[in-house]
Amino acid sequence: MLIHSATQLLTLTENPQRGRDLGQLGIIENGAVLIRDEKIVATGTTAELRNSYPGEPPLDATGCVVMPGFVDPHTHVIWGGDRAAEFEMRLEGKHYLDILAAGGGIISTVHATRSASIESLIAQTRSRLLRMFATGTTTAEAKTGYGLQTATELRLLKALLALDDEGPIELAITFLGAHAIAAEYKDDPQGYTDLVTGTMLPILQQWWQTHAPKRKNPPFVDVFCENQAFNLAQSRQVLEQAKRLGFPLKIHADEFDNLGGTSLAVELGAASADHLVKTSDADIAALGTSDTVAVSLPCTPFGLAETDYTPAQKIIDANAILALATDCNPGTAWNESMQFVIALACRYLKMTPAQAIAASTINAAHAIRRADRVGSLTPGKQADLLVLSVPDYRHLGYRFGTNLVRQVVKRGQVYSVDMGYYRTA
Ligand code: NIG
Ligand code: FE
Repeated sequence: MLIHSATQLLTLTENPQRGRDLGQLGIIENGAVLIRDEKIVATGTTAELRNSYPGEPPLDATGCVVMPGFVDPHTHVIWGGDRAAEFEMRLEGKHYLDILAAGGGIISTVHATRSASIESLIAQTRSRLLRMFATGTTTAEAKTGYGLQTATELRLLKALLALDDEGPIELAITFLGAHAIAAEYKDDPQGYTDLVTGTMLPILQQWWQTHAPKRKNPPFVDVFCENQAFNLAQSRQVLEQAKRLGFPLKIHADEFDNLGGTSLAVELGAASADHLVKTSDADIAALGTSDTVAVSLPCTPFGLAETDYTPAQKIIDANAILALATDCNPGTAWNESMQFVIALACRYLKMTPAQAIAASTINAAHAIRRADRVGSLTPGKQADLLVLSVPDYRHLGYRFGTNLVRQVVKRGQVYSVDMGYYRTA
């Protein structure tokens, strides 16, 4: 298939875009992309590719931007129930961490998740993944973390593997047994930390070998390093044990308080450090000399109606690799759309549309270590791309709240987006 006549074809780059290099879109005007067997074969101008590959089935992208599918590198997309009542409590003045300390917040979603069947969890999550896909996300990271007991965490993993197999959206799976202190261990956070490191992680290792032996990517292990969750020593204990067992690492750091989680992630060679709102200058300097990707989640302060966002300009000036994600979750940020994330990043992180697009594609792919397959329109990579019904890439960011995606192409298969739903073309 030859997608042709794109007003702008954004190819991006294969390498992560560090610091001030962020925002290289690799624009080809009147661009075209040739796809065969689920992969990208060539990119170039429409004239060049028509000449080299005559007679290919065409897809006309006149008046459109064509770009890589979004990669969303941080989501908590599998959960039961909702937290609409808590949203109202927060509007009335209660703080997120106080609600958590009182047994609400994450813990209330844990109750709803534990009591949901795997079929119900799959059905609820599928609808969220379809909204992600229809708004242009072709690969998403997905965390467990609303089980907080071995059996439920494994049920969530099983559901995520099934949803990944089902497609069309592709998942990078993360084990987040250390998302909160389980209610049973309310007065013994160290006891719960020991359960995660001594019992859950070894079981995870065995379970994965049995249930997902052929997968290229092992699951990430993540921890919520925060007051009311895991302190720095406990976060280190979780991540060091995960590393010993061969898992790649992620961390939730500096969402509300600066505990040093970002520097810990750098020290341990984590794939990413995420949230990064209260991050210190020393932490930011550490990111600048490492390959640990800084993942900012602007929907979270927006969702909490807070005023502090990731110091993105400092992170860029420090020469770090910056990516964007939704954080899609029932507590702080129930939003599936990377287009909305880009709109927030332009306003509150002062990123340009070009920077936000690179942070949502190639840098996001590096944050989940999938840049060998996705994140740019590079020959040999998967044909995961978007046809946007806009003539200029800057409409991303500029416009918000409606879906600009006309077609999603996933592994060479075309899906037409129609009022937020999709059907096979
Ligand atoms: O990334 N910080 C921890 N986890 C989520 C919120 C989870 C929840 O409130 O259910 C986050 O913001
Ligand atoms: Fe999160």
